[in-house]
Amino acid sequence: MGDCWSFLGKELQELKEKRLFREFNTVQSPPGEWVTVNGNKVLNLCSNNYLGLAGDPRIKEAAIKAIKEYGFGATASRLVVGNYELYDRLEKAIAGFKGTEAALVFNSGYAANLGVIPALVGRGDVVISDKYNHASIIDAIVLSRAEHRRYKHRDLDSLEKILKECGSYRRKLIVTETVFSMDGDLAPLREITELKEKYGALLMVDEAHAGGIFGSSGRGLAEAAGVSEAVDINMGTFSKAFGGCGAYVTGSRSLIEYLRNKSRSLIYTTGLPPAVVGGLLEAVRIVREEGWRRDTLLEKAAAFRIKLGQAGFNTLESQCQIIPILVGSAQQTLEFSRRLLEEKLLITAIRPPTVPVNTARLRITVMATHKNEDLETALEKLTYTAQKLGII
Ligand SMILES: Cc1ncc(COP(=O)(O)O)c(C=O)c1O
Repeated sequence: MGDCWSFLGKELQELKEKRLFREFNTVQSPPGEWVTVNGNKVLNLCSNNYLGLAGDPRIKEAAIKAIKEYGFGATASRLVVGNYELYDRLEKAIAGFKGTEAALVFNSGYAANLGVIPALVGRGDVVISDKYNHASIIDAIVLSRAEHRRYKHRDLDSLEKILKECGSYRRKLIVTETVFSMDGDLAPLREITELKEKYGALLMVDEAHAGGIFGSSGRGLAEAAGVSEAVDINMGTFSKAFGGCGAYVTGSRSLIEYLRNKSRSLIYTTGLPPAVVGGLLEAVRIVREEGWRRDTLLEKAAAFRIKLGQAGFNTLESQCQIIPILVGSAQQTLEFSRRLLEEKLLITAIRPPTVPVNTARLRITVMATHKNEDLETALEKLTYTAQKLGII
């Protein structure tokens, strides 16, 4: 390797020294509560398969049916010849589920954020974004070339201060996750909608971790907070509760038509394969009809979180199925995770830059389908391993 490439080895070495080097685990089983990873059968406490749908036989059957009817690939962008009829049915289904005029499906949550934000704002506009927003939101803002202002996490005073300072921008867009992916805490949506009205801003919410889980019909946290109407752009993913991949944006018909014409991550990419879209149609039906899944999930998660707190763990402000265990140093978090793996618990270490420096953590995620006795055993193992390491 010539000198031009010497940075690769140097930077990789630096990552290793700081315990920030990342590697893949190899999964050798179907998705579920128990998975085989690198040859070991382990209790899975770190997937986003919250409702247990990723391996659901009905969804698999729907995906197989779709591949038989429509083939393997979409063959082109949806705007060329990749928009087979399952797509129209999925968009109608998701708009019906969310109670909006229209919906647009993207290939992933990452692609949705990257497509939506730069389509709506550009130079001369400002995006006011929660400091803990997901990387896909941050990347989308950078790509949009709009001014990027970050308010303190869930802090309404900080948001209002920035809104006051941003009077002269052409458009103001507030963006927040509703359930925060690494902390499991909730955005104060009602108050945010009041501020957006007061200062004439648009509001986009990312419901990646709330869609299918929060709200009386599972629409998300905007529904639970009673502010669905006040949200201008509602984005969610099919990659978490729905057990598949892809994402949706819901809103007015004119918003969806605009995005269909302006979102580069929708226009310049091949559509999702029919198997995925067919499977998602069934997943949306199940999420709508099997409300017990979200109720059970939130009950199980609350009980587990309370017990973790009683055992002395710091679970931050979590209020849902995402339960962080704050450790601090990347090295100690990795060691905690490694020892848990020896105990047959899979909980990956979350380190910077995914979370702020010195807040490395284990991110536990509960599934609706986890057995209570497995969670009890996990609690015991977590507790004695943490005690040995001096974490609690
Ligand atoms: C808040 C948030 N938005 C967007 C995404 C991206 O979604 P996807 O995995 O479907 O690309 C994620 C996924 O981790 C997320 O947590």
